[in-house]
Parts: sequence; C-alpha cells; structure tokens
Amino acid sequence: MTSSNKIISAKDFSEDFIWGVATSAPQIEGAYNVDGRGLSTWDVFAKRSGKIKDKSNLNHACNFYYRYKDDLLIAKGLGFKVFRFSISWSRILPDGTGKVNQAGIKFYHNLIDECLQLGLTPYVTLFHWDLPYTLQKEGGWTSHFIVKWFSKFVKLCCKEYGNKVKNWMVINEPMSFTALGYMLGIHAPGKKGLNNFFPAVFNTAMAQAEGGRIIRDIVDNANIGTTFSCSEIKPYTNSELDIAAANKMDILINRLFIEPTLGLGFPNDGFALMDKLNFTTKAWRYIEKMQFDFDFIGVQNYFPITVKHSSIIPIINAMEVKPSKRKVPQNGLGWEINADSFYNIIRKIAAYHNVKNIIVTENGACFNDKIVNGVVNDTERINYFNTHLTALHKLHKEEPKLKGYFAWTLLDNFEWSEGYKARFGLVYVDFITQLRTIKQSGYWWRDFLKK
Ligand code: GAL
Repeated sequence: MTSSNKIISAKDFSEDFIWGVATSAPQIEGAYNVDGRGLSTWDVFAKRSGKIKDKSNLNHACNFYYRYKDDLLIAKGLGFKVFRFSISWSRILPDGTGKVNQAGIKFYHNLIDECLQLGLTPYVTLFHWDLPYTLQKEGGWTSHFIVKWFSKFVKLCCKEYGNKVKNWMVINEPMSFTALGYMLGIHAPGKKGLNNFFPAVFNTAMAQAEGGRIIRDIVDNANIGTTFSCSEIKPYTNSELDIAAANKMDILINRLFIEPTLGLGFPNDGFALMDKLNFTTKAWRYIEKMQFDFDFIGVQNYFPITVKHSSIIPIINAMEVKPSKRKVPQNGLGWEINADSFYNIIRKIAAYHNVKNIIVTENGACFNDKIVNGVVNDTERINYFNTHLTALHKLHKEEPKLKGYFAWTLLDNFEWSEGYKARFGLVYVDFITQLRTIKQSGYWWRDFLKK
C-alpha cells in the first residue's frame, strides 16, 4: 500500500477520537546541566556504560528545552490535537527529593502554557525512565523507598500543573525499563539479575497505583492513565513446547504489569518464575495497593514476537525467532512490521473487562532515513502508518474502548541504547545544526488529519 492509495483519513474516525504525537523528556530536551537540573540515570549510563551504539549521550539531544515553541508549532501545523511529553524528575527535583528547582518548574509551566495557547492538549507522562541519579545511588527502583520518593514527585507535579493539565500517564512501559535496566543491564541503570528485577517490578507496580491515587486526590476532573508495552506473542510452530514457550513470554511481556494494576495480582499460570516473584515480594499481601482504577490504559506497540521452545535459555525456556530468520517485513531496527498483530494485541488488552478505555499512546517505526536536497522521502514509514491506521480503523468500528492514537514520535531523537542513528520522527533532525525537516510522513499525517 502506498500513500497514493490511502483509503482512510481522520474523518473516517469518530469526531472525538484523540489524535496525538508522543515524545519524552530524556529523548529530546537536552540542556542536561543548565538552570539547576540534576543528573539522571540515563545521563550517567550513556557516558559510563559503553552501551550506547553510537557512543552518544543526552547532553543536547534535540535541544527541545530551547526550541519547544518552534517544535510545538510543527506538531500543531501537522494537525495533531494532543502533545504527549514527560516531565524530567531531576529537572524539578535535582536530587530526586527535597529541594525544588524553580527554573525547572517554570520550564514545564511554559511548555504547558504554550501547548494550551496553540490548542494542543497536554498529556503528561510522569516517569519516562529518567530517574534522578541521586536516587539510583540509594537503590533506585529496587529500593522500597522509591514509592515514597515517587509519591512526592507526583504530588509536586499535580500541585504545580494540575489546574492546567488534566490528562496524566503515571509510568511509561514498566516492563521495558525494569527488564532492560534492572534485569538485562542494557538500559540505565545497567543492573542485572533477578535480585534487582524482582524488587524493581514490585516497587514499580506499587508506585504506579500510588501515583494514580495521588493524581485522583489532587487534580480535579483528571483523566488518569498509565502505559504498557505490548506485543502479540506467536508460537513458532503448533507444538506443545512452542505454545508453552509463547505463554511464558506472554506472561512476561504483556501480563506482568497490567494484571496487578487491574487488581488481579501478578500472573502465574504455573510459571515458576512468577511463583518466585510472588514469594520474594509477598505480593499477595499487596493486591489492593498494586491496583488502581485507571481511566485509560495506554497501549504501546511496535512489533509482534515469534517464540520457540529452547532448553538452553534458563528460566523461561523460550527464545525469539528473529524476523530476519523468518524473512518477514522489518523496520530499520529489524523489528517485524505487522499491522494484524497491532490489531490483535489491542483486542487482547481490550478483552480485560476492567480496562475502561484504551489509547494507543505510542506506535511508529524507525527507518534509515536520508535527507536528499532537503527532502526525506520516507515511503516505508508512510506505508507503516497507512497499514496500522487501517487496522486501527477496523478496530475503531468494533471496539468502543478504543479512544485515541498517538504517533511515536515528533522528532528524531535519542533512541536509548541505539543512540541517534535510529530515527523514528515525523521530523528529521540534523543533530549538528539542529535543523528540522518535516519528512514526507509528516506531510502524510498533515493530510490524514486535515478536516
Ligand atoms: C518505547 C519507548 C519510547 C521509544 C520507543 C521506540 O518503548 O517508550 O521512548 O523509544 O519505544 O523504540
């Protein structure tokens, strides 16, 4: 499918369907050490771990701290109604707790005011992975004090911005940052093993629900959500072993965080790892505390995962069969592109009866974009959005819980351990000059959203 045979537009969705574009503070803001900002785990990890592919760091990123007005104008110009961003915890609380940095507070007031003035509804994420480094030195997400530290941060945000911001997301993809940062050591803070992973998972589940309660207490008429990374999990063959492997992967990837949030506790289904998690954290005592009645669940999807049994992989006895091996369509990072799976995973989340509403709070693709004579002709990204929005449209007609879709992301940015080479933006960024060029996919969105 190409842009020329586009079959749908925003007009084919209901009037109140929410169209947004998503970003996060650490990936775009830069200005890492100005106006009193404290360091985050990612500032330190990027410089010390040797794990960022292009050896880059977050010091300047997209310089959004200085360029937010122009960048918001672009988001507005493309026709989006919502701008999703996150608050850098260490910009407003440089040490994580205690002294408040007024310059940081002011920055987010300015950003929010600018959004409102342009008619962009702000959707604010409270935690998008950039923990204040001072708190990491005290154990970070493995410390049970994190619930207290996080609560204070959330209270501060709600009191400062709650009059102007009504739409909140507590945590971005708990599974991603606990698994990558506290189990596998490939994201900040670079910790490994179950001794880090289990407490991080438990404390995150607790903090997520507590964050929801705090927002509900402080902000009048709040619309409160949190976001989960989700992937359809497919067994490689119909063998019993592959199906069992897929089931374990599904528990870890899709169910681990949403189920405690919905009051179901951690999933189990005979998976010994989950017994161990329950046992070490005594999670059954905290079923109520890990639960919060979120107004919406943010579904974030990038790829499906195909899984087969493997006796050499410890604990889960499952391994991914890579898209390259299966010769299926892939994005620039080798992630499978599959719009049917996108449709299926949203349906799966919608099937939980106490999920009230769903917003796709991130979806998008990275390609090896080239700028030629000032034009970025990213037809693959256009095709990606075209097929995924067609699937979304089908779902929209069938699933009343589905309320909105946010494209990831406005600008090419710091893509975590991939550095700056993995470009996901609708806008191409030259990281030397900071020049912005709207990609053809950005113009495609403008046409799609046109009333
Ligand atoms: C998500 C994450 C985003 C972004 C995206 C693309 O998991 O929330 O920050 O990096 O993946 O990889």
